[in-house]
Amino acid sequence: MRTVPWWRHAVVYQIYPRSFADANGDGTGDVDGIRSRLGYLAELGVDAIWICPWYPSPLNDGGYDVADYRDIHPRFGDLDDAEALLAEAHAHGLRVLVDLVPNHTSSEHAWFREALAAEPGSAARDRYIFRPGRGADGSEPPTNWKSVFGGPAWSRVDDGDGAGEWFLHLFDSTQPDLNWENDEVRAEFDSIFRFWIDRGVDGFRIDVAHGMVKDPEFPDLGQDQELLGITLLRDHPHWDRDGIHEINRRWRAVLDEASRATGREIMMVAEAWVPPESAPLYLRPDEYHQAFNFEFLVTPWDRGAAATAIDTATTNAANVGSTPTWTLSNHDVMRHATRFGLPADVNWRTWPITGPADLLDADAGLRRARAAAMLLMALPGSVYLYQGEELGLPEVWDLPPEVLDDPVWENSGHAQKGRDGCRVPIPWATDGPSFGFGDAAPWLPQPPSFGAMSVEAQSGVVGSVLEMYRTALRLRRDHLVDDETLDWLDLGDSVLAFRRGSGVVCVVNYGSDDLRMPAGEVLLTSAGRTDAVPTDGCAWVLTDRPAG
Ligand code: GLC
Repeated sequence: MRTVPWWRHAVVYQIYPRSFADANGDGTGDVDGIRSRLGYLAELGVDAIWICPWYPSPLNDGGYDVADYRDIHPRFGDLDDAEALLAEAHAHGLRVLVDLVPNHTSSEHAWFREALAAEPGSAARDRYIFRPGRGADGSEPPTNWKSVFGGPAWSRVDDGDGAGEWFLHLFDSTQPDLNWENDEVRAEFDSIFRFWIDRGVDGFRIDVAHGMVKDPEFPDLGQDQELLGITLLRDHPHWDRDGIHEINRRWRAVLDEASRATGREIMMVAEAWVPPESAPLYLRPDEYHQAFNFEFLVTPWDRGAAATAIDTATTNAANVGSTPTWTLSNHDVMRHATRFGLPADVNWRTWPITGPADLLDADAGLRRARAAAMLLMALPGSVYLYQGEELGLPEVWDLPPEVLDDPVWENSGHAQKGRDGCRVPIPWATDGPSFGFGDAAPWLPQPPSFGAMSVEAQSGVVGSVLEMYRTALRLRRDHLVDDETLDWLDLGDSVLAFRRGSGVVCVVNYGSDDLRMPAGEVLLTSAGRTDAVPTDGCAWVLTDRPAG
């Protein structure tokens, strides 16, 4: 019997609630929509779901602007619905992670309203980061820090006579940063963790896990900050500071205590866009259980880059007793079926407005997406899938400007489209006004091509992306989760190949010629050919285990 903690090899399916399934017909996904699709998820073969923020929120940043951490957005349902979802997910054998946003609240949160009404220097203001401005009349922001979404990271309030303090927001101006030096803030989050644990959750995805601690000197930034904190800067005044680890340990103690009390193994996974050498520090045994592996996510379609990213993540995780995690897409990045169809020098991270459509090779993108997904599912450790990738959905990068909702669009002065193209509602059916998403027009329009990519259109179709995922997840459970070893095989410069402890060999062909299929029983291929592994293809072959 396996005794390793469930999360070490889990396949976690990310749900963006607004775009998953709309049960009440208002054009926006909801909790009951998720409940109605739990059977689909169990059948797909995932172990857990991660639900992006579902709390009351003005939805200025898709719910990452939380107004109340202990309730559900009325548009999504209520706490009873959430509890029913938790019970039903468990009955399907699915664990549930919720998304916690500790770096900032919404400006609609009761604490921020209180802070605005209170005096400079008051206890209410101390829960956030208020500072006097610079310059003779304080009209200059306290530092030159920039918001990840564009524009300055400080906004000024009116404390009377046209003068006032500035508050920090590393994201949108409606997402004020909390002050993690404040004991009340720390205690509040301990209590929020317990609130959701009491409702039955099995874990937490922690948003911007590298951002809570700021340099108390508030120095100016010497260099430009990149989007979404994808940064390799050292000694940064607000990303990845040493003080973060004390907070991590505090939360881990809360989770460990709850795990002992409930008998559940409650875990947390960090969203920390930090350099690879920093990442293991978050994974020490008394900190996070897991962290997202963004180095792998941003790896282009390139054999050497993929091998390096795999090596780094496996070694780093093993050194601290954790397992690596693997992700190709999430709600913040261009979907990988499109990314992999672009030339390597296109900077997809800048969220292009229409996308360099003339440079896109959509067929290559989908071929590579299929191969990359099989590679991902063959690796030791845990896998995070983003809703719709199992259908091969592309980025919808031609959304008309009037429907764009991501704050990046406005805050960048319309220079960057933002992340809506990966958040378009999921097609469940081949026909209908929203391809089965719900009864109303969806909050973001779906392209006509979504019908043929729907769950209905792909179910039972041999060779479809969906059936490939279903088979891969079943085979993974049978052959790939009982040990954590990976032995590289040398099959040539343009081939990535490794053998897992069960004897399964995974090969990916990055070259331009067909590759001979390794000897053994072909379990699954991304391209549907069993005689050879073609360009941009992946195959899993069960070979005899090497002696010894
Ligand atoms: C994280 C989320 C992203 C959000 C940001 C601010 O990066 O994944 O969607 O905009 O944090 O909360």
